[in-house]
Amino acid sequence: MTYENIYIEEEGSIAVVTIDRPKKLNALNKRTIEELHEAFKELNEDSSIRVVIVTGSGEKAFVAGADISEFADFNVKQGGELAAKGQELLFDFVENLKTPVIAAVNGFALGGGLELAMACHFRVASFNAKMGLPETSLGLIPGYGGTQRLPRLIGSGRAMEMIMTAGMISADKALEFGLVNYVVSQEELLPLCQKLADKISNNSPSAIKQAIKAVNAGYSYDTNGYAQEIDAFGKCFGTQDFKEGTSAFLEKRKANFQGS
Ligand code: COA
Repeated sequence: MTYENIYIEEEGSIAVVTIDRPKKLNALNKRTIEELHEAFKELNEDSSIRVVIVTGSGEKAFVAGADISEFADFNVKQGGELAAKGQELLFDFVENLKTPVIAAVNGFALGGGLELAMACHFRVASFNAKMGLPETSLGLIPGYGGTQRLPRLIGSGRAMEMIMTAGMISADKALEFGLVNYVVSQEELLPLCQKLADKISNNSPSAIKQAIKAVNAGYSYDTNGYAQEIDAFGKCFGTQDFKEGTSAFLEKRKANFQGS
């Protein structure tokens, strides 16, 4: 697939995916969602890539939401399909990748933009970032997982307030709420994400895959998180990474994980 609305830069084991529709504040239209799906799928299957960072182009926006111009005339059926397809292709897809994804929130993260950031495994923001779920101001509700992931991350009362007021919160407030892990300047944003990605890259990809599964299971309505953890823990013992990690520790050397 040729990418029109995103681009990918790879450096060593880290890939940066940039959503590139700055004139539309990187709003997620159908094509962009499909491109992101394809890019995440490819990067997830590439064993040389250990971490993916996703960000928005320009200095103003991460993603200002789903592209409103594409669904303004939708009916009930089309609306439901829009949410279902988006969740399947992008939001649930990203959350369940085996490769960690960090959101580098470089500006507005609204609606689908905040939902994308929340589907990532964690978030780092720049000082100018503003986050919100403005859908109720459009006569809608969040449809890409926002009603589920926001209360999970910041608590139900705060999420209810954000959804009902349709307001935006500052990066500092997001930090206070635990919605983002760090807030830094725009210049420091990607370098910090890369530093965190480097740290992650030193660890076992097969263990990280199991950790993602176990953590996600705790938030799933049909999986027992503790049972998933036991299963995932056991599986780690069958990996080369486990042999390498424990041998390296005992031999007082740095582990060289292959992800198998
Ligand atoms: N869908 C489609 N287009 C969008 C968009 C979206 N979610 N967000 C921004 N854009 C477009 C604008 O229509 C405008 O396009 P134009 O230049 O062709 O008119 C361009 O991006 C720049 O946005 P603009 O509104 O002029 O910038 P601003 O600095 O005045 O305001 C925002 C910035 C983010 C406050 C404002 O764009 C906004 O409220 N966007 C919608 C946010 C939203 O409701 N998202 C949830 C969607 S479900």
